[in-house]
Amino acid sequence: MYPKMTPLSLAAIFLLLTLSLLSITSSSITLPLTPLSTTHTHALKLAVSATLTRSRHLKKIHLHPPPPPLNTPLHPKSYGGYSIDLNVGTPPQPFPFLLDTASTLLWLPCSSHYLCSKCSNTLSKPFIPANSSSSKLLGCTNPKCTWLFGPNVESHCCKQNNNCSSQTCPAYTIQYGLGSTAGFLLSENLNFPEKIIRDFLLGCSLVSIHQPAGIAGFGRGPESLPSQMNLTRFSYCLLSHTFNDSPSKTSNLIMETTPSKGTKTNAVTYTPFSKNENAAFGAYYYVTLRRIFVGGKRVRVPRRLLETDIGGNGGFIVDSGSTFTFMERPIYDMVAREFRRQVNYTRAAEVEARSGLGPCFVVPFLGGGGTMSFPELRFEFRGGAKMRLPVANYFSLVGESDVACLTVVSDDVAGGPAVILGNYQQQNFYVEYDLENQRFGFRSQSCETSL
Ligand SMILES: *[C@@H]1O[C@H](CO)[C@@H](O)[C@H](O)[C@H]1NC(C)=O
Ligand SMILES: *[C@@H]1O[C@H](CO)[C@@H](O)[C@H](O)[C@H]1NC(C)=O
Ligand SMILES: *[C@@H]1O[C@H](CO)[C@@H](O)[C@H](O)[C@H]1NC(C)=O
Ligand SMILES: *[C@@H]1O[C@H](CO)[C@@H](O)[C@H](O)[C@H]1NC(C)=O
Repeated sequence: MYPKMTPLSLAAIFLLLTLSLLSITSSSITLPLTPLSTTHTHALKLAVSATLTRSRHLKKIHLHPPPPPLNTPLHPKSYGGYSIDLNVGTPPQPFPFLLDTASTLLWLPCSSHYLCSKCSNTLSKPFIPANSSSSKLLGCTNPKCTWLFGPNVESHCCKQNNNCSSQTCPAYTIQYGLGSTAGFLLSENLNFPEKIIRDFLLGCSLVSIHQPAGIAGFGRGPESLPSQMNLTRFSYCLLSHTFNDSPSKTSNLIMETTPSKGTKTNAVTYTPFSKNENAAFGAYYYVTLRRIFVGGKRVRVPRRLLETDIGGNGGFIVDSGSTFTFMERPIYDMVAREFRRQVNYTRAAEVEARSGLGPCFVVPFLGGGGTMSFPELRFEFRGGAKMRLPVANYFSLVGESDVACLTVVSDDVAGGPAVILGNYQQQNFYVEYDLENQRFGFRSQSCETSL
């Protein structure tokens, strides 16, 4: 039930993306969504450390302009993410972007001098603004410059030169869980088959560390793609990380601009988004987790641990860019304890130490194609929406063995979101971000569709 996975190379993904069909109707845009780097068994440990690095980053305070250091410690491999393909400039050129619901800027490798340290050498060619007739450097007096740099940016620019209107918007630096990027802001065209979005604000990155592709920020903020395109909602269905690497499989990101006026999508259950009053965490999609169940038994997590406090710490966010789900230590310990109590398989403590995941259990014949049986993991949200995870979304075979581990990670870093729902846990769910009605919806389904 757990086929051995082979990571797709970026080149293969690029080919896949360029072969894929784009479809559009007047009200919705559909783009193929591809796993960017799969978490095959040997990469599990790297995915664990990448998830932890990202969770530490997401939990930190971020203010504009973002902190400058580019020389942060790095991990050798990228986290398992998903990419979309967008056509930039005039004439349009396709580029892959990581879909990230926990950041806001859309940026891409840019200029013939683009420098990327610790990046895959199969990285696609950079975007050359000079070759696009619609590229414009963003001016400092352009209101969009305040989206990243705040309302006082103009006086900052004018200090350096009396003529403000001749100044460009300052350079940006953004740090992610792994790596970082820096560059300057452009006003550019984003092209869809029947629609051109003009004067789209995007980042033209000149230097990056550890970035497998550009990033499309789908978080909350004026510069994010959903805000700039006035999307009423967007949705996706994430292909299994464990899917067999045949390129005949794809799933879609769907972006809609027509108002639904509260209409519910078939079989989808919803929970309201909540806002975090602390602007440092304002880009994230928060929902309210009320209860966690393991095997039908309620894990008695105190409410104060699940809710956001007055400082904006705590709470539950949905993140397409984290691989595994992160839980703060007290929550994780209660969940892990309940699994240990209910599961009858032998513990595999040695694998826990080696993989960074846990608890781990020896499941007889699992590596040979046997099946495993674990208590159900269920999240219940405000409003009653229940997320019943398929076992493949929270237990994974580790190594070439008969050992399966819980794919939830934790550490002792406090502050920021207490639970981050990773993409591993979202596999084979249709997931909808209903921005118009400020609610998060989901339903369990298979995400594999043929090209
Ligand atoms: C971009 O423009 C340069 C110089 O005008 C040209 O040499 C190069 O081939 C162009 N690149 C692309 C990808 O069109
Ligand atoms: C200020 O810069 C703009 C754009 O470069 C230019 O058109 C204008 O003449 C300049 N004004 C002054 C006073 O130098
Ligand atoms: C989005 O809405 C704003 C404000 O109404 C408008 O100025 C902008 O042109 C719209 N953008 C798109 C892509 O429709
Ligand atoms: C574990 O064993 C107990 C007692 O034999 C049984 O009731 C329970 O269903 C088993 N749990 C699982 C997950 O198989």
